Amino acid sequence: MSELTVIVLAAGQGKRMKSSLPKVLHPLGGRTMVGHVLTAVEALGADRVVAVVGHGREQVTAHLHEHFPGVQVAVQEEQLGTGHATRVGLEVAGTVGGDVLVLTADTPLLTGETLVWFMERHRGGGRAVSILTADVPDPRGYGRIVRDGDDVRAIVEEKDASAQEQAITEINSGILAFDGAFLAAALPRLGNANASGEYYLTEAARLAAEDGLRAGAFLLEDRLQTEGANDRVQLAALGKELNRRIVERWMREGVTVVDPDTTWIHVDVEIGQDTTIEPGVQLLGVTSIGRGARIGPDSTLTDCEVGDGAHVVRTQALLSVIGEGADVGPFAHLRAGTVLGRTGKIGGFVETKNARIGDGAKVPHLSYVGDATIGEGSNIGAGTIFANYDGVAKHHTTIGAQVKSGSNVTFVAPVTVGDGAGTGAGTLVREDVPPGAMALSAGPQRLLEGWAQERRAGTAQAAAAEAARAAGVLVVGRPDAAGTPDEHPGEQSGDHEASHTGGPEVGAADPGRSES
Ligand code: UD1
Ligand code: MG
Repeated sequence: MSELTVIVLAAGQGKRMKSSLPKVLHPLGGRTMVGHVLTAVEALGADRVVAVVGHGREQVTAHLHEHFPGVQVAVQEEQLGTGHATRVGLEVAGTVGGDVLVLTADTPLLTGETLVWFMERHRGGGRAVSILTADVPDPRGYGRIVRDGDDVRAIVEEKDASAQEQAITEINSGILAFDGAFLAAALPRLGNANASGEYYLTEAARLAAEDGLRAGAFLLEDRLQTEGANDRVQLAALGKELNRRIVERWMREGVTVVDPDTTWIHVDVEIGQDTTIEPGVQLLGVTSIGRGARIGPDSTLTDCEVGDGAHVVRTQALLSVIGEGADVGPFAHLRAGTVLGRTGKIGGFVETKNARIGDGAKVPHLSYVGDATIGEGSNIGAGTIFANYDGVAKHHTTIGAQVKSGSNVTFVAPVTVGDGAGTGAGTLVREDVPPGAMALSAGPQRLLEGWAQERRAGTAQAAAAEAARAAGVLVVGRPDAAGTPDEHPGEQSGDHEASHTGGPEVGAADPGRSES
């Protein structure tokens, strides 16, 4: 096959976007506009690809270097027209041999298959120029294809078209293939004596006809692939259409999408067979979902990996891994670095960050788990907080395997809890807990008998207390129950031994854990 050079024109300003972001960097479906075009171009396996930049060149160039390092960049200082831009690009490409494909950077629905199809037709025809065209209901603003049977006589720009030519509905998509030698010779011959005062690349079609060379047009049925986004209304419309195509593709691959209209899937997402996507789900970035999983309703997963058979409901997650058969949500917030093991659980109103939660481990309710490791099979009680921040630095908490932690525990990092250990409800864990130990920091419960009747006399509370007392409900009292708060300061945290043996009410046998 002959050599192939691709030139992508991306120097225009895109005024109608009204944006500080260059038009070609506006994203849809998880990729920039120019990114979509360059990804489609990859299917051609071209010998070289040159992007012509101008407006916002620093931003565009940085984006290209990061995401398409193989693409050469040519700078068009002044936007003198598509013909001039192509010339600038060809100079950087430094070649005139083989074929040259020129395309614009703002057609995000364009596919690699279409480009391959088009280049096959161009190469098979012995033409100097081939034009990818579309038949559109409203051709305003486009260059019109003036045919002479199968051949093209000229492309006439809107501003230069006669009334008769304006009625033509076959338009130039802006995607043109050239014989390289012809193009190199034609570019310096282009003039700018037209209504826009620009060097039109499209003039090359007329020059070919004049030279007795053939110019051909190939009509693409799927005209949306050649449609550009010039303002944000068109951007949203093309974004929606792109999404519709992506969602449809996954349904054809064996994914159940309950409501395609409220499901958004980015281009780089992968989804396994027999997974169900409930309404209101966004799968973004490079998220991958295994087989037989259930996602949603109402979840946003960005750059996440979800294992087979996992269930994720009403969840926001970023850069997180959810293991096979694991259960997440509802109302869970998984921040970067969360790794949940197989069959693990992150339940309702739980926030996690930089947290490795082992296989079968559970954080079922109302917790914050930040900068932590939790071993296999451990259970973290409701309302537990991993206090990772001392006001200056973040610290790590390590919880071993099979730990049973009570409700409303605070782990003050850095701290380590050994395998098989436990923590009583309300414990403030400031010191390491050895394997198998039960840590308790809550003091014995004290009762101030008759407090409501004395201190809240005349209130409904006092009346209810008095009525219950009169009826003999729970009137047992403790020997020291009549003390005042100052007489019996609570046990200090760390006084584990005392807590452990402090009486049945602190529950050595029942540390108040909550399990799912
Ligand atoms: C161009 C075509 C028109 C076609 C339409 C399809 C010409 C003369 N006209 O018109 O036949 O129907 O595209 O969308 O080619 N660009 C540069 N440097 C420049 C000028 C343009 O890089 O100096 C880039 C723009 O960023 C854009 C592309 O070339 O990506 C097309 O330029 P634009 O000005 O939009 O041309 P149209 O008037 O739309
Ligand atoms: Mg345009």
